[in-house]
Amino acid sequence: MSDNMRMKLKIWRQKGPNSPGAFRDYELDNVSSHMSFLEMLDVLNEKLIKEGKEDPVEYDYDCREGICGTCGVVVDGVAHGPVRRTATCQLHMRTFRDGDTITIEPWRSEAFPVIKDLVVDRSAFDRIIQAGGYVGVNTGCAQDANSIPIGKEEADKSFFAAACIGCGACVAACPNASASLFVAAKISQYAHLPQGKPEATRRALRMIEQMDAEGFGNCSNHAECEAVCPKGISIDNIAVMRREYLKAALKTGSATI
Ligand code: SF4
Ligand code: FES
Repeated sequence: MSDNMRMKLKIWRQKGPNSPGAFRDYELDNVSSHMSFLEMLDVLNEKLIKEGKEDPVEYDYDCREGICGTCGVVVDGVAHGPVRRTATCQLHMRTFRDGDTITIEPWRSEAFPVIKDLVVDRSAFDRIIQAGGYVGVNTGCAQDANSIPIGKEEADKSFFAAACIGCGACVAACPNASASLFVAAKISQYAHLPQGKPEATRRALRMIEQMDAEGFGNCSNHAECEAVCPKGISIDNIAVMRREYLKAALKTGSATI
């Protein structure tokens, strides 16, 4: 491992949603193996600002701790890069070797239009959540937790599904640009809990209708989504989503299945 690595970067540059984009080549010769991937991009941007020849590269982030789901780029063809269960912000330069060429591009999906460079518009996910990714609760004092006993196995399934951070890597990795893993995680986290039951029917119908309306593709069980998910969300949740949808469709007679 070196503390002064030379990296060649091929980065997708695009001025706006309607501008044509293209890869541009950059070189950095002062990359520490201890840097995170985003810190390496920070160094590139400092260089670009200093040189004053072109705009810095736009990329998304917030927490830089793998918990908010804001970051995310495709690194060498893999959403979030080569380390499993690792968001882009948690990827470190020690993963790469001195002299490597790294290709960096945005999530590619019609439902995630590029805003600029590596930043995409993921508001489609927000609209899916608004369609049904919530539970109704009465205001007032919080109910005693022990008054709603939930078995450990069910509680764990809900907890694991709730680990989804909404990053969108599953969409970027799917050959159909399907959002099924994300939507499945959000439906599943409530499907396993009594608190999720009152709205279960409309939640499944509305969230899946919204997913389709946003232009995401269908799931055809490639499981690429699970492979790149930084939180290890299992495709078992997609089976839960389908079960919830089937129940809702049969109950209401409102969907063609
Ligand atoms: S399921 Fe995984 S990859 Fe998809 S949005 Fe959630 S955390 Fe990201
Ligand atoms: S910046 Fe928050 S998960 Fe990467």
